[in-house]
Amino acid sequence: MALTGAGISAESGVPTFRDAGGLWRSYRPEELATIGAFERDPRTVWEWYAWRRGFVAECQPNDGHRALARFFLARGTAGIVTQNVDGLHTRAALKEAGDGPPDAALPIEIHGAIARDRCNRCGLRADAEPLGDSLPRCAACGGMRRPDVVLFGEMLDSELLARAHRLAERADLCLVIGTSAVVQPAAGIPLATLHGGGSVIEVNTEATELTGAATVEVRGAAGVVLPALLG
Ligand code: OAD
Repeated sequence: MALTGAGISAESGVPTFRDAGGLWRSYRPEELATIGAFERDPRTVWEWYAWRRGFVAECQPNDGHRALARFFLARGTAGIVTQNVDGLHTRAALKEAGDGPPDAALPIEIHGAIARDRCNRCGLRADAEPLGDSLPRCAACGGMRRPDVVLFGEMLDSELLARAHRLAERADLCLVIGTSAVVQPAAGIPLATLHGGGSVIEVNTEATELTGAATVEVRGAAGVVLPALLG
């Protein structure tokens, strides 16, 4: 299996969060990406996500996303878990699968998807629409819509998290790519592989919280390392 974070999309031009140039170096997450901020000031949170949504729509999957997609398509069993909300794994899966089924390369998106909205009241999901003068409302119940992403202070979808953990527990290898491994519960996923007797290979440009526990570290950019590692 593979667990990915913002670093795999860095070479696509999507900003990371915590390393040099990361979003949380210049923006305050507590004003933009918490459930409290959304309840206090939904427009500011909406504008931030609308900006990021427009930004990632212009970005393309890179060689790292593509190598990972090809690997899982060839293997025929799904195994990508991502913290990223940018949709780039899905786009790489669809591209690399061509006319075939992309399923084996589709990720479990444990932090949600920025291109989707969800009703804050009834939970109905819908494709995102451009942000207008008034905030978007649910077509079914009239409730306030929000980006379908996990905000700080919220629980992850328990079913998705359980699926990710099951994959990790059974995996003989967990490839951990481009994550600082500080945000829980995602950071615990590779530990489940280690506890199950499997190995962890960390692919990252820098050392992280996970490095000490990893079986093997590969220092380098995902877009270079993954094609070399996975073919
Ligand atoms: P971070 O920004 O915390 O970490 C990015 C990691 O990628 C760092 O360890 C970098 O060293 C590494 N990196 C940067 N460029 C790389 C490259 N080209 N190849 C390989 N590695 C590279 O991002 P995440 O760990 O993904 O949560 O952050 C976890 C969560 O915190 C995000 O999902 C988001 C954020 O707040 C939510 O939105 C809920």
